[in-house]
Amino acid sequence: MDMLKLFPLSELPDGARRVVQVGPRKVLILNVQGEILAVDNSCPHMRFPLKDGKVTDDCGIICPFHHSAFDLKTGDVKDWAPWPPGLGPVLGSIVRRKALPVYKTKIEDDFLWVSKQPNR
Ligand code: FES
Repeated sequence: MDMLKLFPLSELPDGARRVVQVGPRKVLILNVQGEILAVDNSCPHMRFPLKDGKVTDDCGIICPFHHSAFDLKTGDVKDWAPWPPGLGPVLGSIVRRKALPVYKTKIEDDFLWVSKQPNR
């Protein structure tokens, strides 16, 4: 798989996150309890940025806008636009439920790498 060299691992301590440009896409890189994960920074619901989303204990991320939730490892949808009550589900029905694209990562010689294409 074609990978892109990013930056030293020391620049992404536990709990940190950073957005990088990978070709035409912005990719959110996160260090979740020592595990390096990478997903599209663009929420599949309405394309708003996920970078300030809440990371949950079960390795999910919740979009700050309409609270769609995704698994950070698989990209699977856990919840689709439940917020705000009443309006959120209406907004959710406008856009078909879609998984969050996820990217492979690796650490080599203390540098982070990310795949140039998402897994899905
Ligand atoms: S833009 Fe993310 S849930 Fe609507």
